[in-house]
Amino acid sequence: MDTIRQNRKADHINIALTSPFTLSSDFDELSFIHRSLPEVGMDDIQLQTNIGPLTLDYPIFINAMTGGSEKSGVINASLAEAASETGIAMAVGSQHAAIREEELAHTFKVVRKKNPNGLVFANIGADAPLDYALKAIEMLEADALQVHLNVPQELVMPEGERTFTSLLAKLEKLSAKLHVPVIVKETGFGMSTETLMQLQNAGIQYVDLGGKGGTNFIHIENERRSKRDFEYLKDWGQSTVVSLLEAQSELDELTIIASGGIRNPLDAVKSFSLGASAAGIAGPFLKILHDQGVAGLIMELEVWKEHLRMLLLLQGAKSIPNLKQCPIIAGGKVREWCEARGIDWQRLARRKP
Ligand SMILES: Cc1cc2nc3c(=O)[nH]c(=O)nc-3n(C[C@H](O)[C@H](O)[C@H](O)COP(=O)(O)O)c2cc1C
Repeated sequence: MDTIRQNRKADHINIALTSPFTLSSDFDELSFIHRSLPEVGMDDIQLQTNIGPLTLDYPIFINAMTGGSEKSGVINASLAEAASETGIAMAVGSQHAAIREEELAHTFKVVRKKNPNGLVFANIGADAPLDYALKAIEMLEADALQVHLNVPQELVMPEGERTFTSLLAKLEKLSAKLHVPVIVKETGFGMSTETLMQLQNAGIQYVDLGGKGGTNFIHIENERRSKRDFEYLKDWGQSTVVSLLEAQSELDELTIIASGGIRNPLDAVKSFSLGASAAGIAGPFLKILHDQGVAGLIMELEVWKEHLRMLLLLQGAKSIPNLKQCPIIAGGKVREWCEARGIDWQRLARRKP
C-alpha cells in the first residue's frame, strides 16, 4: 500500500483544518453598486448554471479534496451525503492512489453510491495518461473530469514531481479524447491571460482558475517539511479575483469557474459578476463538516443557496448570466494590477445592468 501518499492526504486534511484562513482578501477590493429599486422578487431568481453540456441546479459546488485512505473515504461519504441532500455538485480529490491500487477505489466510489443522481466530478493530475483519466471517470460514473495543475505544491513537496515538460500536450489529448467535459483546474495559485490562452489553443474549454486566497498548498506542504524553509513563498500566485480579471479577454472562448478563497455567498456572486459560471469551495466546507458534521454542512449549503438568491435580487439580476452586466468596482491593489496589466477595470465599473 502506498503509505507515503496516504499519510500525505491525511496531513493535507489536518493542516488545512488547522491553518488560519487568510484575513485579507482581494474579494474585499470589489464593490457592487447598491440598487434601491431592483424590481425583482425572490421567486424570479434562477440559480441554474451550465458548464458545457452539464446543468448545475446551483452555481456553487464542493471542490476537490479527498479520497484514497479509509479516513478520507468517510469524509467523501459525508460530503456526498450533503451534496445529494442539497442538489449541489461535488468533486473528489485526486484518484491516482485508487487507480494504482484497486482496494482504495471504494473510498471514491462511495461518492456515487451516496449520490446516485447528482453531478460528480472525477479528479486526476495533468501528468496522468489517458487510461488513468478513463479509469477515474469510470470509477465514479463521473459527469466531468477535473485535471489539476499544482506545480508550486509539487516543488515544495520533498517527494514531489520535478519535471513539467509535456503537460499541455497531455491536456490537449485528454480534452480531445474524453466524452465528458475536461475542466483544467489550478489548486490555489491562480491563472493569467497567458496561461488561459495556452489552454484555449490546446482545445480546452473549461477552466477552474483555482486562485490564491484560501487553502494554501505552499503553506501546507511547507508544514510537512522538516526544515519548513518555504514559508516565504506562501504569497505566490494570483488571487481568484485577479485571475478572473486576467480572464476577461477570454470569456467568449472559455467557460470559467472560480475557486480559491471563496469565503461566503458574496464572494461567489462577485465571481459570477466577473464572468464565472460556477464557484467551487473546498477548505471552508471541509471545516464545517469537521466542526458541525453532515447536518451542519447541509444547513450551511442551504444558507448559501438562500443568500445567493438574495444577493442576485439585491443586484436586480434574475440569473447568473444577468450578473455579468452589473457594474462592479475594483479598488486598491486589484485596480493597481489592472492598471499594470492593461485590464479595463473602468468598463466593468460602468457596465449597464
Ligand atoms: C484537504 C484538501 C485536499 C485537496 N486535494 C485536492 C486534490 O486532490 N485535487 C485537487 O484538484 N485539488 C485539491 N484540493 C484543492 C481544492 O480543490 C481547491 O482548489 C483549493 O483548496 C482552493 O479552494 P479553497 O480556498 O476553497 O479551499 C484540496 C484542498 C484541500 C483543502
